[in-house]
Amino acid sequence: MSEMITLTIDGKTCQTQEGEYLLNVARANNIYIPAICYLTRCSPTLACRLCLVEADGKQVYACNAKAKEGMQIQTVTENIAKERRAIMEVYDVNHPLQCGVCDQSGDCELQNNTLYMKVDSQSYAVRDTYRPTTHWGVMNYDAGLCIVCEKCVTVCKDMIGSNALDTVKRESDAIDKDLKESMPKDAYAMWNKLNKSLIGFDEDKCIDCGECISVCPVGALVSSDFQYKSNAWELTKIPASNPFSSDCSLMYYEVKHTSIADQTPMIYRVTNEHHYASLSGAARFGYDFENKNATKNQEEFTATIEAFKKTNTIKFNSYITNEEALILEKLREKLGVKLVNEDAKRFQNFMANFSTTSGSNFYNATIKDIHNANFLISVGSFLKSDAPSVKYAFNNAITLNKGAGLYFHPLGDTHIEGFGKKGKTIETIIHKPLCEEAILFLILELFGQNLPQELSTYLESLKTKKTKKVIEVVKETISEMVKDEETGEEKEVKKIVSKNVESEVEYDYSQLFDVIGCDETLYDTINAMLDKKDSFSLIVGEDLIFHPQSANLAKLCGLIQKYTPFKIMVIPPQTNTLGVSLICNLADQAEGFVVGYNEKANFELSALGDGNIDIPALNQQEGTFTSCDKRVVPTNVALPYGGYVLNDFANVLLDDEVEFTIEYTSQLPMQKGFKAVEFDSLPNEFKNTQEENRGYVLELLSQESSDSFDKIEKFYGFAGTVIYKANPINQFNEFTYKAHQLANDKTALYVSSSLMEKLNLNENDRVIVSAVSHQEELVVILDEKIISDIAYVSFFDKTIQTKKLFSTSRYSSATIKKV
Ligand code: SF4
Ligand code: SF4
Ligand code: FES
Repeated sequence: MSEMITLTIDGKTCQTQEGEYLLNVARANNIYIPAICYLTRCSPTLACRLCLVEADGKQVYACNAKAKEGMQIQTVTENIAKERRAIMEVYDVNHPLQCGVCDQSGDCELQNNTLYMKVDSQSYAVRDTYRPTTHWGVMNYDAGLCIVCEKCVTVCKDMIGSNALDTVKRESDAIDKDLKESMPKDAYAMWNKLNKSLIGFDEDKCIDCGECISVCPVGALVSSDFQYKSNAWELTKIPASNPFSSDCSLMYYEVKHTSIADQTPMIYRVTNEHHYASLSGAARFGYDFENKNATKNQEEFTATIEAFKKTNTIKFNSYITNEEALILEKLREKLGVKLVNEDAKRFQNFMANFSTTSGSNFYNATIKDIHNANFLISVGSFLKSDAPSVKYAFNNAITLNKGAGLYFHPLGDTHIEGFGKKGKTIETIIHKPLCEEAILFLILELFGQNLPQELSTYLESLKTKKTKKVIEVVKETISEMVKDEETGEEKEVKKIVSKNVESEVEYDYSQLFDVIGCDETLYDTINAMLDKKDSFSLIVGEDLIFHPQSANLAKLCGLIQKYTPFKIMVIPPQTNTLGVSLICNLADQAEGFVVGYNEKANFELSALGDGNIDIPALNQQEGTFTSCDKRVVPTNVALPYGGYVLNDFANVLLDDEVEFTIEYTSQLPMQKGFKAVEFDSLPNEFKNTQEENRGYVLELLSQESSDSFDKIEKFYGFAGTVIYKANPINQFNEFTYKAHQLANDKTALYVSSSLMEKLNLNENDRVIVSAVSHQEELVVILDEKIISDIAYVSFFDKTIQTKKLFSTSRYSSATIKKV
């Protein structure tokens, strides 16, 4: 942790950590410095040069100069004002005056700064050259509007980890050379570069996250779907939280009426605060999943009450709010029914076992801790699809903190291998499925400090002595007869020479390597990576929660939290898995008559509009989620809803008169760490200091802990082809699939090119996949990013029963036959 220091900006005393960029210090202290190209949490691109300031009498770029004790900063001087004015004039050279139809108009940093610097005349000109508009994946790139600020390139590299964008050269007329002498220096240099460059795109690397659209300060990168649909100022921004994954990132539904004839509100786009929190493609593009035509029908209402009264089980998933979960829990108590939610139950069990050894009710890392780490390990997560924000944090940490990382997974992923700036900063370890106990023991062996005796003894017992040949360089003194050139006499001369000597040395070999199925050179790789590393994060994924040995894995994670320097994040698999697991008393299995809440059952309440009665989708509700950061965050109503909500049924069944569902927010169980805070008091914003001011953080509770663990006793083997339960990027469930921009994905068997060859398959073949006494006919899709002979099967389409190909684990043995 760096020291706090004091400096002054425009005479104002500011405190900050040593080494913070001056621009961030100014922003945290509400001091404005013009800056177009800087992105908080990314490396400075130094493209715009607008952020020039004077530090102790010397001109520096505020986005790249670090704070030092006692610094005196002037944010504007006569020369800086001249530079900035000239820079803005240059940006306006050949910028098409099409603000009337540009999507960014009203929200454009070029417009804002042109006005802020009162640019009312133009001193510069160069003949424009043709810059065509192109269509890239989810977006349109209008090269004519691009100011080559490189923000899109930077975010894709430093945050997302895709490296799909880069600057490329373009044909252009040269700028008048005389201007080099007469123009302000920074403005000339900036123009020279701008005039020769554009942005290039590599489609194979892009994951359609849309973060580059978010950071573009002008209308050069826009969502193809949103283009020309609305002006920014007509849209109402509704703060909400990502409904599809447990990062629950802050986002805004941007809403206005559907058309002049139809005044019903419609979501036009989703935006985010890219300086503070990134957003997945699913949340950005999968927004229109509302339950549209719901109405109130007394007969259906009565039938629903009857169904609840006669039910033995209520089955549901974790794509619900905390308040809905609390109502279901109250119904369980009152009606004496079972609550079944497999996802939350598995997570609940995992965390209960984790607590027995860690002594804490929660894992101790947040996404911010992952961003701040410089040595990271991911185990058991298909990171790019399971948890995009955690993946971004992993890449961001490696790229910005001179970090290094290990990605353990049976499905190797070339996308992850591209993380980091240059050199080998990430090592993918493609291991056997279900050997994660060995990986966690290996982490304890390598990083454990003051391990309990029983654990040390067990780790020692896994070691055997092996020998290896090593080559040592030794110095040797030799004698040589040398002839004196003048006298012709020979004399003996002694010399020291280096010599390679081969010898055999004994070393400890851990059998854990055999269990994992990896090479023992991993020791050396890790040792090389650990140079100058002091901040450690371990990411634990869903594979461990749905593992046959999940109880022991959870205990080992608890021991890692207690006995190693790693901070741990256990990623809750669905949006509100953590919240549901804390609020609800869950049973293992359904029995008797089942009421389904967004789940298939004898009587279904469905936000898709396909059940016995409608309930609202998450973009039609206000309430809270509990994020993977253990934070209770609010989400708001974006679209109207005409049917009944769970609270209406609960009022009858619980004999209560609660007007709004959010009245339950302050009743969430305090003994589990929730606070008695009213929904309307929950903030949902980031401060200029970068502080997350969203909802509140659950209270951390400690408990007695033990050091108990189980030894590895079972080794898992698979017959036939192994399949893995995972969705493609940007699909999470039936709601993402319903959204019009994501509706083209197919439920499929996703296969690597090597497996495609082994099974003699071609893309778009149809195959019968058989596993766990179930069969599904699926289309084959090639995923060139996977380096493994394990195929993955998607499960986002509710109408295709691919989940039945798996029992509790995410892996199954399958037979695959061409149709
Ligand atoms: S496309 Fe936008 S973000 Fe990218 S360089 Fe051009 S102006 Fe900057
Ligand atoms: S959509 Fe995402 S991955 Fe594709 S270029 Fe933009 S930032 Fe990169
Ligand atoms: S913000 Fe510093 S150079 Fe652009």
